[in-house]
Amino acid sequence: MLATTEPLRVAVLVGSTREGRFAPVVTKWLAGHLDQRDDLRADVVDLAETPLPTVFPAFGQQPPPGTEERLALVSPRLAAADAFVLVTPEYNHSFPASLKNAIDWHNEEWHGKPVGFVSYGGLSGGLRAVEQLRVVMAELNAMTIRNTVSLHDAWSRFDQDGVCTDPAAETAAKALLDQLAWWGHALRDAKSVRGYVA
Ligand SMILES: Cc1cc2nc3c(=O)[nH]c(=O)nc-3n(C[C@H](O)[C@H](O)[C@H](O)COP(=O)(O)O)c2cc1C
Repeated sequence: MLATTEPLRVAVLVGSTREGRFAPVVTKWLAGHLDQRDDLRADVVDLAETPLPTVFPAFGQQPPPGTEERLALVSPRLAAADAFVLVTPEYNHSFPASLKNAIDWHNEEWHGKPVGFVSYGGLSGGLRAVEQLRVVMAELNAMTIRNTVSLHDAWSRFDQDGVCTDPAAETAAKALLDQLAWWGHALRDAKSVRGYVA
């Protein structure tokens, strides 16, 4: 079977929902990198714009009214993605609850897909959040990408117009997306031939 040459669909999941958050600056910059590529097509899923419920139904039970409508704004987009980038800050040496909640609402949507990370925060640049996310994503049969973009003191790496002033970050973003594209194509091709067995 011939592999498709269609661009990979990359869902960029914005983890912070905090009021006054820095996340849009980082996300817009990343989206700019994605827009420059012919092999990747971005869909930014912003959890502040599409908030998900935090109460899960009992096993085998219907969720409370309104839940399905809210999931419908997110779940099909995750299902359609060939690859993901999680944009995450570091909160208390981990990732935000809003991101974990979005991850936990889904399962098959993650299977057999690559996940890259763009993290930001104080001194650690969100790397502690990323290392913990790797453990979570392994449980969901996702393939995490080695290269990361990690922005320590993130606010010092962008000017007042949101333009990145850090050449190392630009290089890191390209390397991350190169690896994401390789894994995304490899896994999509493999699934088209063999399907996926969780
Ligand atoms: C609840 C909370 C906990 C935080 N904990 C950490 C931390 O452990 N390490 C760190 O480097 N920065 C920490 N920060 C700083 C954030 O990384 C920084 O404020 C970042 O801009 C948050 O992302 P956001 O603005 O998109 O929500 C914390 C911020 C918040 C709100």
